[in-house]
Amino acid sequence: MITEAEITWDEAGVSQSARWRSEAGHPAPRRVVLADDAITADQAYRLACEGTALLWRGDYQGARQVVEAMARRIDRSRKATREQKSPEELFHLYRLAQAQRARTLGMVLIPISADHTIPLRRAPEVALACAEVYGIQEQDYVASLRELLGLIGAHEWRRRGVAIAAPGGEMRIHPHYGVFAPIRSEYLDLVAKAPLPATEFAWDIGTGTGVLAAILARRGVKRVIATDRDARAVTCAGENLARLGLSDEVEVVVADLFPDDSHPRAGLIVCNPPWLPGKPGSPLEHAIYDPDSRMLRGFLGGLARRLAPDGEAWLILSDLAEHLGLRTRDELSGWIAHAGLEVAGRLDARPQHPKAFDAADPLYQARRAETTSLWRLRIA
Ligand SMILES: C[S@@+](CC[C@H](N)C(=O)[O-])C[C@H]1O[C@@H](n2cnc3c(N)ncnc32)[C@H](O)[C@@H]1O
Repeated sequence: MITEAEITWDEAGVSQSARWRSEAGHPAPRRVVLADDAITADQAYRLACEGTALLWRGDYQGARQVVEAMARRIDRSRKATREQKSPEELFHLYRLAQAQRARTLGMVLIPISADHTIPLRRAPEVALACAEVYGIQEQDYVASLRELLGLIGAHEWRRRGVAIAAPGGEMRIHPHYGVFAPIRSEYLDLVAKAPLPATEFAWDIGTGTGVLAAILARRGVKRVIATDRDARAVTCAGENLARLGLSDEVEVVVADLFPDDSHPRAGLIVCNPPWLPGKPGSPLEHAIYDPDSRMLRGFLGGLARRLAPDGEAWLILSDLAEHLGLRTRDELSGWIAHAGLEVAGRLDARPQHPKAFDAADPLYQARRAETTSLWRLRIA
């Protein structure tokens, strides 16, 4: 979802307007004032907290410093709310705080010309990063500096790629903006080493960057169909697989969960759904939060009529949701049984990402207990 609207402000007594862009789906701020290097971080923070956006007219690096100073104020003011709260309450408070932080920091706005240049002193070159996400523009527009910094970071990732240890040697996966980036190695290792059923035909449901389809192809699966319902992910996966020379083995299609019924049953169906049940706070969170566990339950529920009789499904899921009180193990086991499936085996891994070891993280207790599993499922 892209929010396209107008923002208006007063300049020397004349009302001005510009197009508003927010890939994260944030609505156009209703109160906008001009700001430059004369504003202090405290003044900027106060205005942002009150819901007044600051359209920057000063030095670009000055705007960055203001946003950084605002972030420090927010982080300092975060109360130690950990005591006497259930993991579920802590998690909801954490999400609320994250949303509030994003809203406040998103109040510093940057003008961008239609050719994706920034008409401010000491502004970086962002044309490629903006064109990749916003496409061709016919008018000047305004975006939040926070979003712009996200676009610049995503552009760098896309350019450099992420190194993945894979069968047959390291491969680089280049995530696009808004596509789930495979930065947690433990689940990739599980897919790389789980015993492969004897099949030449596999599906990767919700392929994202295409990383799991690529691992399967590298493991020797002759034909993989990879689906995603997000067009951005399908483009990204297609580019990655082409770059890896795997376009003949893997076909990437837009689909809601499974490929259409014209395909024969598959000997292996893999899925790494979003790990947390919940409403995404922005379109960028669709790969993290699964509303009402729709993808998880839809995947499990559709397997019995799509798996070959001796085939296997690999569900990749962390139990973080269980530690946060958002889902129980019994619920998951119930969905598996109700779908006419049984568990043939499970491979577990402990997360290695930095947050799992950061005692200052508000969700540390749940994160340090987290296990990521590859569930091997068969038709019962
Ligand atoms: C957690 S990401 C996993 C991406 C990739 N498979 C990986 O392991 O890195 C989940 C992916 O599922 C996709 N997705 C969500 N709901 C879907 C649906 N109903 N049908 C197909 N794909 C879906 C999302 O767009 C996202 O790319």
